[in-house]
Amino acid sequence: MSRLEGKVAFITGAARGQGRSHAVRLASEGAHVVISDICGPVDHNMIKPSSSEDLDKTLQAIADAAPGSKVISRQVDVRDADALIQLADDAVAELGGIDIVVANAGILNWAEVSDYTTEMFTAVIDVNLTGVFNTVRATVPHMIEAGRGGSVILISSAAGIKGQPFTLGYTAAKHGVVGICRGLANELGEHRIRVNSIHPSGVETAMGDAQGLMEIIMKHAETMGPLFMNSLPTLMADPSDISNAVAFLASDEAAMITGLQMKIDMGTTNR
Ligand SMILES: NC(=O)c1ccc[n+]([C@@H]2O[C@H](COP(=O)([O-])OP(=O)(O)OC[C@H]3O[C@@H](n4cnc5c(N)ncnc54)[C@H](O)[C@@H]3O)[C@@H](O)[C@H]2O)c1
Repeated sequence: MSRLEGKVAFITGAARGQGRSHAVRLASEGAHVVISDICGPVDHNMIKPSSSEDLDKTLQAIADAAPGSKVISRQVDVRDADALIQLADDAVAELGGIDIVVANAGILNWAEVSDYTTEMFTAVIDVNLTGVFNTVRATVPHMIEAGRGGSVILISSAAGIKGQPFTLGYTAAKHGVVGICRGLANELGEHRIRVNSIHPSGVETAMGDAQGLMEIIMKHAETMGPLFMNSLPTLMADPSDISNAVAFLASDEAAMITGLQMKIDMGTTNR
């Protein structure tokens, strides 16, 4: 496969999980990749932190799957706009441009509203919404200047479409990502830069294993249960299921698609 031969892909949150899967897949299809991750804890994130060893494993997985792919790997917090701008500038200097952006980094926290604090809310907005803006802000000016089009892919969630309870900051941030997607798709169309969002439901990663959230949902199963049901008889997707969509949207096969909210959710948002 070489749908992405010679392209450069910029992927945040790539130390593990879906971000790693996307990086390996895009490299396997011919892209050079710029991978970054905070590789450490974020206050009020209830998912266990990734590490620099995790990011090294992504590096190794890319080398194994796509030995010809050039890689830039760096520890960067998406809340740090200047560090992201520096990484994008370095990517352009070393790899000749940026064609594909995958804004994937994210955190999750949960509580019933009476226990959900302003600090929890702000923390998840800072990473999952402002972090997406920072990623776009660092990369898109280079894409406009290069004048060769491109594909920006924003990782939202089923919680960006439906009213996922007990995760109010997350649900608000993921809906906000749709706003960035739709506004930016209109703004960048004239540059042939496409902007789409992806909406997974449960995916088998560290974040997908949110046992505490499941416990709260089960407490309210009578009213909340159907909200979380899928149409397909599958509970959780594999990260590669999401990478299939990322690779498609990154490729010229999706040349006529922009402003799309692509649901990879086993039908749950159709309920
Ligand atoms: N797993 C699911 O069920 C699911 C469902 C829908 C959407 N998503 C979304 O998919 C994306 C990837 O999540 P995942 O499932 O691979 O979970 P994950 O926890 O394995 O991966 C998230 C990665 O983001 C990184 N990250 C967190 N805060 C960061 C920051 N401030 N700066 C840079 N990196 C940071 C983490 O270190 C981690 O490596 C997230 O945006 C998440 O919200 C996940």
